[in-house]
Amino acid sequence: MFQQLVYFLFVLFISSSNSNRISLIGNDWTITNKINHTAQGTIPGTIHTILLAANQIPEPYMDYNDVDLRYLIHTNWIFTKKFNLTSDFLASNQITIHFEQIDTVANITLNTCPIGRTNSMFIPYIFNITNSCLKFENEIQIDFESPVLYALKQADAYNDTVPPLCTPNVQNGECHVQFIRKEPCSFSWDWGPAFAPIGIPGNIYLEGVNTTDIIIELESVNLASYNAVDKTWQVDVMLSSNNDQFTSKFKFILHDTTWSYETTVTLNHNLSIFLTIPDEQVLHWWPNGYGDQPLYTLVISNEDNIIGSRLIGFRTVQLIQHDYGTGINGSSFYFAINFQPIFIKGSNWIPPDSFQERVSDEKLERLLRSAQLSNMNMLRIWGGGIYERDSFYEIADRLGIMLWHDFMFACSLYPVDESFLTNVHDEIIYQVKRLQHHPSIALWSGNNENEAAVAQNWYSVPVEKMNKTKDDYRKLYVDTIMNAVKQVDKGNNRPFVTSSPSNGLETIVENYIAKDPQDPLYGDVHFYGYQDDSWDPTTYPITRFLSETGIQSLPSLDTWYETTMNSSDLNFNSSFILHREHSENQLTAMMKHIESNLPLPVTNDSLRNFAQLIYLSQINQAMTLKSISDLCRLHSSIDMINPKTSQGHTMGLMYWQINDIWQAPTWATIEYGLKWKMSHYYVGHMYAPVYPIATLTPYLANVTDENAQVSFYVVNELLNNTRGDLLCSIYGLDTLSPRLSFGNNILFNSLGVQNTMNYSYSLLMKRVDCQDNSPCIIHCLLNYNQHQIGQTLFLNRPKNYQLLNPNLQIESIKQIGPTDFNITITVDRPALFVWLDISANVTGYFSRNGFHMFQPSMTVTFHSWTPITDFNKDNFDIRHTSLFDVTLP
Ligand SMILES: *[C@@H]1O[C@H](CO)[C@@H](O)[C@H](O)[C@H]1NC(C)=O
Ligand SMILES: *[C@@H]1O[C@H](CO)[C@@H](O)[C@H](O)[C@H]1NC(C)=O
Ligand SMILES: *[C@@H]1O[C@H](CO)[C@@H](O)[C@H](O)[C@H]1NC(C)=O
Ligand SMILES: *[C@@H]1O[C@H](CO)[C@@H](O)[C@H](O)[C@H]1NC(C)=O
Ligand SMILES: *[C@@H]1O[C@H](CO)[C@@H](O)[C@H](O)[C@H]1NC(C)=O
Ligand SMILES: *[C@@H]1O[C@H](CO)[C@@H](O)[C@H](O)[C@H]1NC(C)=O
Ligand SMILES: *[C@@H]1O[C@H](CO)[C@@H](O)[C@H](O)[C@H]1NC(C)=O
Ligand SMILES: *[C@@H]1O[C@H](CO)[C@@H](O)[C@H](O)[C@H]1NC(C)=O
Ligand SMILES: *[C@@H]1O[C@H](CO)[C@@H](O)[C@H](O)[C@H]1NC(C)=O
Repeated sequence: MFQQLVYFLFVLFISSSNSNRISLIGNDWTITNKINHTAQGTIPGTIHTILLAANQIPEPYMDYNDVDLRYLIHTNWIFTKKFNLTSDFLASNQITIHFEQIDTVANITLNTCPIGRTNSMFIPYIFNITNSCLKFENEIQIDFESPVLYALKQADAYNDTVPPLCTPNVQNGECHVQFIRKEPCSFSWDWGPAFAPIGIPGNIYLEGVNTTDIIIELESVNLASYNAVDKTWQVDVMLSSNNDQFTSKFKFILHDTTWSYETTVTLNHNLSIFLTIPDEQVLHWWPNGYGDQPLYTLVISNEDNIIGSRLIGFRTVQLIQHDYGTGINGSSFYFAINFQPIFIKGSNWIPPDSFQERVSDEKLERLLRSAQLSNMNMLRIWGGGIYERDSFYEIADRLGIMLWHDFMFACSLYPVDESFLTNVHDEIIYQVKRLQHHPSIALWSGNNENEAAVAQNWYSVPVEKMNKTKDDYRKLYVDTIMNAVKQVDKGNNRPFVTSSPSNGLETIVENYIAKDPQDPLYGDVHFYGYQDDSWDPTTYPITRFLSETGIQSLPSLDTWYETTMNSSDLNFNSSFILHREHSENQLTAMMKHIESNLPLPVTNDSLRNFAQLIYLSQINQAMTLKSISDLCRLHSSIDMINPKTSQGHTMGLMYWQINDIWQAPTWATIEYGLKWKMSHYYVGHMYAPVYPIATLTPYLANVTDENAQVSFYVVNELLNNTRGDLLCSIYGLDTLSPRLSFGNNILFNSLGVQNTMNYSYSLLMKRVDCQDNSPCIIHCLLNYNQHQIGQTLFLNRPKNYQLLNPNLQIESIKQIGPTDFNITITVDRPALFVWLDISANVTGYFSRNGFHMFQPSMTVTFHSWTPITDFNKDNFDIRHTSLFDVTLP
């Protein structure tokens, strides 16, 4: 990571001939809290990672260090560095210092000259330096204020109380994070710790220029709109210059096409140039699953000097909100990309580490690949985290992962004094300009859950203050943020919503605070229903778009071993696991959910017991997400709208959450160390483009219920009608021979949900002799275009089945390529929730996992993220289990 940054800086340096840059990053910084820590360290970096590298603190993610190291962020810190300059550099007649990112509140001093003050981690800072402040030998000093004390000071100084005043106790967090423009979840969240880093996560450099030289900067490129009549794209290019008004020639070249354009214009500090690019010159960018992601480099030159370039992709984005006509209430809410309606399959993204300098581009690539491999087409960059670095968006562009991008405001009221709003305005303008050329970004959203928080009065604001609270809300998200977005992200090619969830257009009609932002008939909904049986689809609302929902599980034992060496920590109710659980009573709820559907461990071996509870919690999460997804996809077609309730036409699901910030019980489907939980394998399955669904209605009806029905459906997202064979079999758990098989060859319509078979449940069960006390399972296989996808319907809760030993074995492991291994497993009876796990020193993913086996032998492929050259069975420890093992003492 550090090396990559150094390289990046070098490239900038040689390509900008008119300026002279002196990098100030490196390993010769000194940091001190003037109490008990002074260390030399590397910038980019922050206090925890610098002190860790200097052996002054233990790994922050171990043990209780999130609390034990808290004193580090309760004091001020001074960062200093000495550097020399050349006379050539000092001869430049204008010198500036640039901070790409500084976290967060600091005073900057150069050789005793005060240079400037920073108070947002979301904007870069550029300060002028008076020439007399610089010499041949220099020292830069950066005085950081404790972010915790700063936030408190701001809250005290503010004219009003701004709730919430603190985070819930269970989060071991810090207070008043809404008063500092810093990663909101760095003061803790219900899945993450409060490290609130202090330091410099980005580049710093001095820049010398001669004001007689012309310096032009490419500020942004935006694919503003598509003209369907002319079949042309309008692309806005924003340029700026410090020089006074001048006239000059600009050239634009779109690589890999024959299109180019030249114009002579007058630049007076700022200028937008609108390009028109014929559609016939380009191929369209599609989301994952719908086509390719062609990207084109647009190069901008001035008088033969390249001033910049952007990698862009050509696609239209519409958020379609129409009435359904008489009798149906509410509006639609769905994305159309290149005029093609798209069912959104995705998840929510949080920062993948408390310390950004620990996140390699490789880690981002693997996480986003994991989303792509699971058939996702969108992630929501959640508003309590950060604006990610450029490489994140470049990867998303390349992989076809669209982004629903919140601005960084979450679960809080906010101050709205002028200096705060000015700061926010600068942040939005900067971030939108930086990011808007990315085709992956499909929507901006003002905040996470703050409309709901006001509408439902989450923070018990007294009635007489409600009108002011609402006015403040509009001041921030409408007058400041929305207006800033409209100022730079022109055109109609990227929708904006003020909040998630919201009622979309209906929220605007209701003056930006709808009565019920969670209304299932409008916009998007966040839903968490912990009281009920989470596998039961009837406990979920049928929404137009479900942008958050989910349930917790525990990460693997391997992941726990990264955080503790103390074996007594490794049981479900240990004080350590409780310490890592940041959501009130969630472990109790998790146990309740596990108990309602699954057998509990009976072993007395406490480590095995813990390992089995981890496995069960992951089954519970996987099955819960599958129930929700099946419900959403079943209702994804417009003809699934229920005329009585107007519910249906669900056009998106983004479950909470794909990744983890540390090792803890959370809603994530991928663990901190990138191991996929069982749920992540289920996501890949439940998001398949052609997907069979099997239902028993009423849910878990008993075998004598004569009104109960078993139904089979096929969801087809392919743009073509497709023919396939659906074959279903009914099994008991005693033998691999089905009691009955049935099926048919069907043509399923493109972009539709087709009901293919219905049977009377009681008749079917009578025919195969399945009872409530010896229940059966229906397992189906859909074969189409050389693809095969299965579906399993439990007719009872798994805990009510008589689990028999399937004699699950690994028959062979064969390396079939540098990164790929075939693992053949065998059973002699059906095996449920077969789980393969690999030792911690190998990271990768299996082609499938958590599946049920109804055939004697199966081959699964393991893909390692890195090539394995010295394969032998001893360093390749594959563990396996199935639900039966939980019943063993
Ligand atoms: C540093 O001082 C703080 C109190 O200011 C104390 O809590 C902490 O344990 C000390 N750390 C070390 C490594 O001495
Ligand atoms: C700056 O130059 C002086 C004098 O040549 C030298 O002693 C010192 O080590 C240099 N400092 C750095 C940071 O290079
Ligand atoms: C600015 O001009 C001075 C004197 O003419 C020269 O030495 C220096 O290299 C120039 N700096 C840049 C960045 O061009
Ligand atoms: C720096 O100084 C120049 C010239 O005096 C001025 O135009 C510019 O606005 C200043 N920039 C900042 C960031 O203060
Ligand atoms: C930074 O400067 C401001 C204004 O001069 C001052 O109030 C504050 O205490 C300084 N902070 C630090 C950490 O030195
Ligand atoms: C402080 O709040 C009061 C009442 O809410 C308001 O009248 C007054 O103008 C506010 N003062 C400032 C400086 O914002
Ligand atoms: C709040 O505003 C509404 C409409 O603007 C008004 O009817 C109501 O009286 C106000 N409530 C208070 C407590 O001022
Ligand atoms: C089966 O359903 C009937 C009618 O709903 C109910 O009375 C009976 O208790 C159920 N039997 C079992 C075993 O759940
Ligand atoms: C879908 O149909 C079109 C023509 O209708 C054809 O060109 C295309 O190859 C088909 N795609 C697939 C995946 O079969």
